[in-house]
Amino acid sequence: MNDQAIRAAFESRFGAPPARGVRAPGRVNLIGEHTDTSDGFVMPMAIDREVRVVLTPRADTTVRLVAFDLEDETTFDVTQPSVKDGWASYLHGVAWALAEEGLPLRGFDGVVSGDVPRGAGLSSSAAIELALMRAFYEASGFDWDAKRMAVLARRVENEWVGVASGIMDQLICACGEEGTALTIDCRDLSLEPAPLPAGYTVVILDTGTRRGLVDSEYNQRKAQVDEAAQILGVTVLRDATPESVDAQREALGDEPYRRARHVTRENRRVLEAAAAMREGDAETLGALINASHASLRDDYEVSGPALDRMVEIAQAQPGCVGARMTGAGFAGCAVALVADDALDAFAGAVKEAYDAASDVACSVYVVSPQDGASTLD
Ligand code: GLA
Repeated sequence: MNDQAIRAAFESRFGAPPARGVRAPGRVNLIGEHTDTSDGFVMPMAIDREVRVVLTPRADTTVRLVAFDLEDETTFDVTQPSVKDGWASYLHGVAWALAEEGLPLRGFDGVVSGDVPRGAGLSSSAAIELALMRAFYEASGFDWDAKRMAVLARRVENEWVGVASGIMDQLICACGEEGTALTIDCRDLSLEPAPLPAGYTVVILDTGTRRGLVDSEYNQRKAQVDEAAQILGVTVLRDATPESVDAQREALGDEPYRRARHVTRENRRVLEAAAAMREGDAETLGALINASHASLRDDYEVSGPALDRMVEIAQAQPGCVGARMTGAGFAGCAVALVADDALDAFAGAVKEAYDAASDVACSVYVVSPQDGASTLD
C-alpha cells in the first residue's frame, strides 16, 4: 500500500495535505462458506490488504473523491445519492445507508486506493464500504459502533448494489481483531476469538481467475437454500441439522438436498474447527478445511476448475494441513493452513505446479489477522 503516493495525489488535487487517513481490511474466510445467509457460523479473519481513504472534511455536504487506482474522480451531494453502477455506487450507497439510519452527514475531499484484489473472494467491496463509512465518520462525527456499521454496509450490498449477500464480509471488515481469526454466529452477531494454531500460517492462493455472473449464481444458490428451509419447515437452515436434512432427502429432491446438506454440515464443521483451535489441533482443523472444499465442490457446486486445481496442488504439499476455496467461489482465491517451517518451500512449489498447469499465473499471499476498520495515526 503506497501511502505516500495517495497523500501526494491528494495534495496535488486539493492543494493541501489531507487532514486524516482511514483504512478497512479485506478478509479471508477459513471455514464456514455460504452459511451466513442462513444465520449460520463462519470463521473469517481480516487481512493485511486494505482500502485506504485520505481525506479532509468539508463544511458542506459535497464529496469529491478521487479513485487513485482507477484514475477517476466523482463529485456528489451526500443528500442525493443516485449512482448504482461502477465504483461510485459504493460511495453513493454508503451515504444512502448512513442517511437511512438517520445519521447527519458532512462531505469531504478524499483519495481512495486499495490493494485488496478485486473480484477474488477477499471482500474488496466490504473493504471499500467500511473504509468509506469510516471516512464519513471522520467527516461527520457520529458514533462509531462497528457492528452497526457492518449491518449498514450489508444494506448497501443488499439494497443498493443488489447482491443478496450475508453479513460475514462487512462484519469481519468492521470488527476484525489483530492476531486472531473470529468465530462469528451470524444469528446474533456474537464474535469469539479463534486463534490460529501455534506454528501455522494462513496463505492465500490467488488462482488469477476472475468470474462474472457470480452474483446471479450466488442469488440462485440462496434461493435453493431458502426453498430447502421451507420444505424442512424452518425459517433458515441454521435451525436444521445434517440428520434432519438426510431424513427429508426424498422430499427435498436432489439439488435442494445437496445445498442443504452443505450448509448444515458446514455449520457443524465451523463449531468443530473452533473446538480444534481451542486445543491448538492443526491437523483436525486442516481436515475440516479439506472437507469444506469437497462439500463446496460437490454439494454446493460453487468451486471451479482453477480453484479445484489449486486446492489439489496445495493439499499435496508437505506442511499444508488443509486447503479449500474461499469466498463466494467459482474463481478467485483458495486458502491454506501451512506449517511455518514449510512456508517458503510451499509457496514456491505451489506456484511452480499451478503455473505449469494453467494459462494464468497465480499469486501467493502470506497473511496475518488484522484489526477491522480504523483511523490511521
Ligand atoms: C460472499 C458474501 C458473503 C458470504 C460468502 C460465502 O463473500 O458476501 O456474505 O455469503 O460469499 O460464504
